[in-house]
Amino acid sequence: MNNNSFAKNFLWGTATAAHQVEGNNSNTDFWEWEKKHKLVPDSDEACDHYKLYKEDIKLIKNLNNNAHRLSIEWARIEPEEGKFSEKEINHYKEVLKELKKNNIKVFVTLHHFTNPTWFSKKGGWEKKENVKYFERYAKFCVEELKNLSNNWVIINEPNVYIALAYLKGFFPPQKRNLLLALKVYLNFARAHRILYKSIHNIQKNAEVGSAIAMVYFKANSIIEKVFLPTIKFITNFSFLSLTRDCHDYLGINHYFLYILDYRDLKLIKKIKPKDYSKIVKREVTDFGWLVYPQGIYEVVTNAWKRYKIPIIITENGIADRKDVLRPAYIKNYLTWLKQAIVDGANVIGYFHWSLLDNIEWGQGTEIRFGLYETDFRTQKRIPRRSAAIYSEIAKSNGANL
Ligand code: BGC
Repeated sequence: MNNNSFAKNFLWGTATAAHQVEGNNSNTDFWEWEKKHKLVPDSDEACDHYKLYKEDIKLIKNLNNNAHRLSIEWARIEPEEGKFSEKEINHYKEVLKELKKNNIKVFVTLHHFTNPTWFSKKGGWEKKENVKYFERYAKFCVEELKNLSNNWVIINEPNVYIALAYLKGFFPPQKRNLLLALKVYLNFARAHRILYKSIHNIQKNAEVGSAIAMVYFKANSIIEKVFLPTIKFITNFSFLSLTRDCHDYLGINHYFLYILDYRDLKLIKKIKPKDYSKIVKREVTDFGWLVYPQGIYEVVTNAWKRYKIPIIITENGIADRKDVLRPAYIKNYLTWLKQAIVDGANVIGYFHWSLLDNIEWGQGTEIRFGLYETDFRTQKRIPRRSAAIYSEIAKSNGANL
């Protein structure tokens, strides 16, 4: 093994989430929210991945990938409280079998934002006593799927979930309540700790973690510099502190640089991405996020120094419908990731978000993260230039970076 670069068995993959790709995911809180607010009128079929998964696994093969991260939809497995669907768990078995047949190592996420409607009606994550429902479902999945996967991502971005569902009031249940946000966060941490143990009890060789969104922050002035360490800790490390020693690997979702600015130009004044880009003199994605490849180096080396557990980039990608910035984004972020490895960080995998354009939360098909473009009318997948670039990188195991 060349320990100055990507290891021989480095995981090259893409990540997806059930609700965003499968289609007709009608028993979830997000489905209701999308319909009620007419947020994403075209989300019904999504990418129809539920039916087209075999075709989509071929796309993964075309990327020369050896890994894939996907999520299981709780509302499919348990559409009614306590009623587990054999048909749906069998569906996921088929998907995982197909991936296995293709020598693709899987990382299975058990919670990626969505909740069954029955669970939300009971108060969802706000109540400590509700954690047992998630525990029961997650254990069921691990028992059923243990011959097909031993890599588990318990919760996706608990930090983003509370920020958007309980502070910003955007995601369902659309509340703005700091106390509830804290409760939900603590319940996620509780669920993570419980599941970490129970998954290992079921499966001795399990690799268990969660995917934490980590942002690279910069501060504009003295005022913001004072708050920088606290904001950084809350965003990037608080969940890990609540779940210490319960991660076999450290899952990091990293996308962008956030410049702290008390005037909060982008959020408060709602400046358009293009104009924001001019003000900050940096490249900005279709989502208004700042492109800053060195950020992945900073975040990874920082996390490595703190925790010394193997790191997996569970998500990294760019909203770029026209694929203008994505080719350089991929190359530059991966070059900086390579540098982090050269400088000693033990990074064992990278999952690009996302395999194909999908239903972005609250934005529908407007915002596009795919290496493959999805034509949502015909369900055709069209490779973007970036797909070939990522494919070459994976093929050379990053030697061409
Ligand atoms: C989420 C994905 C989402 C992506 C882009 C992450 O926060 O895990 O589901 O699509 O970012 O917004």
